[in-house]
Amino acid sequence: VKGGYETFMDKEIHEQPTAVADTLLGRVDEHGELQLDEMRIEPAVLRSVDKIIVVACGTAAYAGHVAKYAIEHWCRVPVEVELAHEFRYRDPVVSEKTLTVAISQSGETMDTIQAVRHAREQGSKVLAIVNTYGSTIAREADAVLYTHAGPEVAVASTKAFLAQITACYLLGLYLAQLRGNKWADEVTDYLERLAAMPAAIQRVLDEQAPQVRDLGARLAQESSFLFLGRHVGFPVALEGALKLKELAYVHAEGFAAGELKHGPIALVEEGLPVFVIVPTPRRPVLHGKVISNIQEIRARGARTIVIAEEGDSAVEPFADHIIRVPATPTLMMPLLTVVPLQVFAAALAQAKGLDVDQPRNLAKSVTVE
Ligand code: F6R
Repeated sequence: VKGGYETFMDKEIHEQPTAVADTLLGRVDEHGELQLDEMRIEPAVLRSVDKIIVVACGTAAYAGHVAKYAIEHWCRVPVEVELAHEFRYRDPVVSEKTLTVAISQSGETMDTIQAVRHAREQGSKVLAIVNTYGSTIAREADAVLYTHAGPEVAVASTKAFLAQITACYLLGLYLAQLRGNKWADEVTDYLERLAAMPAAIQRVLDEQAPQVRDLGARLAQESSFLFLGRHVGFPVALEGALKLKELAYVHAEGFAAGELKHGPIALVEEGLPVFVIVPTPRRPVLHGKVISNIQEIRARGARTIVIAEEGDSAVEPFADHIIRVPATPTLMMPLLTVVPLQVFAAALAQAKGLDVDQPRNLAKSVTVE
């Protein structure tokens, strides 16, 4: 059942190229237009949407955070990302012009189900991005875009996360096309870039996973880790920290790199392992900012583990360890940079002799509020 892998999580990490490819499959019709699976929302309604609210929990919410950067860029519609349980119990500003996007692997997360109901009661249309056919969220939503990640067995989400980002990007491009804005012409171009991602993810797995696993085993005695990122690297940092907490039971925190000097830098002390997700050098301003963040923490004794694009030599003087990912446009980077973080967390947990597939206190699908 584990396909030759030691754990389901390992298997699912290695299924990520397929999960992304399958989620992209068959989305374009004969007129070159994107198609969602079950679309019960009128195009006129989607054209009039003036705000998108993503509701989700945990890893699925981080996929929403990544998507915000892409959807706002392509569609020029404000996107809020909110934890489903927070959305549910405040008084959110929701109208018929709000599109609520619910993201869930299981489609059975009670917090997210309640958020969907709450949004619909207030007249919002709900579009679900779910992995499980016929699940509650898929049935209650006005439209569904399935992630075709296949069943995810390990409690910690991996391939569903990559498929969720992919599906959110399809949604963003779909809306851009429908609303006929300036990105509409580039939809084909972006779809090609997305189509190139499975091979790039495969390369990260083939070329980087072995050394990342070694690193995980070597750092198994550490009791605290930080993760830093900017722009789409920020939610990746949050996800990297979550994976480590839930699998290895160690303290791990993700920060927006720009927040460092507003507080978290006080945590940095001699030998503290810090992961830094570095944007492509083809975005020089963003890139330069992260390089100076690495310098700042290095100067205070941090042990820096840097995830950077192939050929980015600017990181070399400040990195204790470098993990390379293929060059790719900024918005696509999360599909690559999160992979070593998943591998690292699983390896570290395994080195500690923990049950990677069934971490303590957690359930695969949280069906109570
Ligand atoms: C983390 C993890 C959880 C889920 C969250 C939402 O690895 O698996 O944070 O992402 O419980 O679950 P779904 O996507 O089923 O709604």
